[in-house]
Amino acid sequence: MSARDTIYLDEDKVAPFVFDERVAAVFEDMINRSVPGYATIVGMIGTLAQRYAQPDSVCYDLGCSLGAASFAMRGQIQAPGCRIRAIDTSQAMLERFGRVLADNPGGVPIELVCGDIMAEEISNASVVVLNFTLQFIPLAQRAALIQRIHAGLRPGGMLILSEKIHFEDPALNQLFIDLHHRFKEQNGYTQTEISRKRAAIENVLVPETLRAHEQRIRAAGFASCAVWFQCFNFASMVAVRQ
Ligand SMILES: C[S@@+](CC[C@H](N)C(=O)[O-])C[C@H]1O[C@@H](n2cnc3c(N)ncnc32)[C@H](O)[C@@H]1O
Repeated sequence: MSARDTIYLDEDKVAPFVFDERVAAVFEDMINRSVPGYATIVGMIGTLAQRYAQPDSVCYDLGCSLGAASFAMRGQIQAPGCRIRAIDTSQAMLERFGRVLADNPGGVPIELVCGDIMAEEISNASVVVLNFTLQFIPLAQRAALIQRIHAGLRPGGMLILSEKIHFEDPALNQLFIDLHHRFKEQNGYTQTEISRKRAAIENVLVPETLRAHEQRIRAAGFASCAVWFQCFNFASMVAVRQ
């Protein structure tokens, strides 16, 4: 486990949230204490990859951060000839990911790419993971990315999309925001930390409704799409290319 996240305990001036060295150093603690079900989702990405990875194909981890989803996939993929391609714009995240990878070699090869997922060519894919990454992509660019993922997946390949979500019903939306904040308090964040983080991430992380995600996924050509996990305002979906 990484160092404890005290970023918004220490900081009173709230700048927009970025995935820099300070965040990378505490990211594992931050995401586990902030995202209900994160460990379950990561574990199940491994389980899904074991079932959907095809021989001699590529499994993509788009917005990989420290590589939790890549390591989960590597631990369970059995199809021969697979490789994992893990991409992130944050050099700080990739340096830490690379160090852990160097200490744990072997198994399915993992390639690290420092770059923008909007510029990454996706081809010969059997599994594509967007684990809490699409929410950071500008709204106007999201459809193009999902279309490219669909085009780059082999028939029978799977997209796994996890996101913070928004609800059309204002009362339900507020209820789930409140419950999420309660979850963070129970995990040791103070109310000041919670409100500072909220201010920092507003306009950086833009959540959408499950309906908007499903419409975009289906419009890109995916024939099947379902939510397989949800806790409060966090959900994970799967979509399969026919
Ligand atoms: C919430 S984190 C993802 C967590 C990670 N997938 C996991 O399972 O632990 C979002 C990541 O997406 C990366 N990111 C955001 N926009 C990106 C882009 N356009 N291209 C590549 N990476 C991006 C950030 O640098 C950050 O590391």
